[in-house]
Amino acid sequence: MGYQKAVQQARHRQELFKADRFVKISDRIDQGDIPTRIWEKLLGNYLLQSWKGMILSKGVTEIGLYPMLLYELQPKTIIEIGAFNGGSAVWFADHLELFGIEGSVYSIDIDLSLLDEKAKTDSRVNFLEGDGNKLGTVLPPELLSTLPHPWLVIEDAAPVEIVGLLEFFHKNGLENGDYLIIEDTSQSIWDCWSGNWEDQEELAEGREKMDKLRHWLIKHEDEYLVDTYYLDMYGYNGSKNWNSILKKV
Ligand SMILES: C[S@@+](CC[C@H](N)C(=O)[O-])C[C@H]1O[C@@H](n2cnc3c(N)ncnc32)[C@H](O)[C@@H]1O
Repeated sequence: MGYQKAVQQARHRQELFKADRFVKISDRIDQGDIPTRIWEKLLGNYLLQSWKGMILSKGVTEIGLYPMLLYELQPKTIIEIGAFNGGSAVWFADHLELFGIEGSVYSIDIDLSLLDEKAKTDSRVNFLEGDGNKLGTVLPPELLSTLPHPWLVIEDAAPVEIVGLLEFFHKNGLENGDYLIIEDTSQSIWDCWSGNWEDQEELAEGREKMDKLRHWLIKHEDEYLVDTYYLDMYGYNGSKNWNSILKKV
């Protein structure tokens, strides 16, 4: 039967893909298979993407990847820097509920007035107003030390200063098995956005994200591995997040 064979093949491919999935940053190159002209189409209407009527500004391939990662990781704590409309935080909370995971979602933004009314009333998400460049104020060590693991930490707040954020979580609680995702490290997506991004300084910082991440990761090569299972599912670095789905080991 064709479909029985397909299931067998799927299992076999899953095993192959998962076998050597965790690699050092030095084994990776900062390129992606999805060309900029395709990203222009995929991201052209990204602010129209919604979850329960709230903006969900994740890339289309990330919308495929996150649920699989959430199910596999079973995070007890999700920390998102960059709440925006609140759509992604509610999306995460819904997935935790759907998968029967008893976890909490913390979502931080410098400007919580951007939150959708529906997000504001979602008691499952702790929205915190604060600056991603001063995380110690909004996520003090006393709070972080109470948050159960595994953690999924997501930086989605360009133009937050990436090295400071990496250092903060590295020194304040990330444990083996936790995941850290730095969004928007793809050069292609910054090429797409360059025409519309108002603040040129921010744009330049966005373009530097991957370089800064690589530089930091090289110093921590044995502590943070790149998860190629998710990164390469839709082609090499086939999301907005080049080489930036990371597992602490
Ligand atoms: C790309 S949006 C987040 C998208 C959201 N996570 C989603 O998937 O729908 C980026 C957000 O980062 C916030 N932001 C910008 N600078 C920040 C900072 N220094 N600290 C915290 N949040 C910041 C912006 O206000 C904006 O809401």
